Amino acid sequence: MAAAPTSAQSPARSPARSTGALQIKQLIRRRYARLAGADAFQPDPRATALAAGCPTAWYDALPARAAQAFSGCGWPAGDLDPTGIETIIDLGCGGGLDSRFLAERLNKNALVLALDLTPEVLDRARETLTGVAGATVRLLAADLEQLPLADACADAVIANAALNLATEAQAAFAEIARVLRPGGRLVAADLVRVGALPAEILADPMAMATSLGGVMEEADLLAVIEDAGLNNVAITGHRPFGPVIAVNISATR
Ligand SMILES: C[S@@+](CC[C@H](N)C(=O)[O-])C[C@H]1O[C@@H](n2cnc3c(N)ncnc32)[C@H](O)[C@@H]1O
Repeated sequence: MAAAPTSAQSPARSPARSTGALQIKQLIRRRYARLAGADAFQPDPRATALAAGCPTAWYDALPARAAQAFSGCGWPAGDLDPTGIETIIDLGCGGGLDSRFLAERLNKNALVLALDLTPEVLDRARETLTGVAGATVRLLAADLEQLPLADACADAVIANAALNLATEAQAAFAEIARVLRPGGRLVAADLVRVGALPAEILADPMAMATSLGGVMEEADLLAVIEDAGLNNVAITGHRPFGPVIAVNISATR
């Protein structure tokens, strides 16, 4: 595995960032750094991972530290047909389980780019991904709303419980549309809400850092994805996830 981040291939777009958005990102980074340090991504990561669709035998064969690091709300790695993929980006890769699953299924000429905002989380991904057979894996510390990557550089993008943490969902999906090549695929697990969030969540200043504050209604999410220029958008597989609903998103460029 290449330990160093990839260098930028072209300048990232630089949308204006409000002070509020930057503060929220700092809260997100601190929260995930703390969770990574305390090995506390989930109270019961095995139960959460298996409920999310992670194959039992594969999960149970993981090194213990990797198995602890699941923090997703679905299993996009399993939903994606790896045929024809040479470059895939895992946005908000966390502890790197989706990246590992895909790397094992791709050949050595393929590249899995595991990207996260939080350096301490990327350290966990490095542990999960070191020595994995199959594709080349690179780690990249970056913001999924401002990707330091060239246009049309990826055949596929996955994201597991990460897009809902974007402070500007429009920027996140515009970046996905930009880095996917024509015909490239997005496969993600994410969250939607029905109606307003519960009052205690709305009143919680940490809500934006805990995946919930930015959760959109499904129709709004669909509109944002389509406005970004993605096609064949499908939001499926609705399942309860705490006070919100986990869904699978697929789309093509
Ligand atoms: C709920 S965790 C999911 C991690 C992983 N995908 C999984 O399924 O275990 C969300 C991850 O997104 C990362 N994240 C949050 N905002 C981000 C951003 N703007 N850019 C990149 N990563 C981000 C966090 O650091 C965290 O690792």
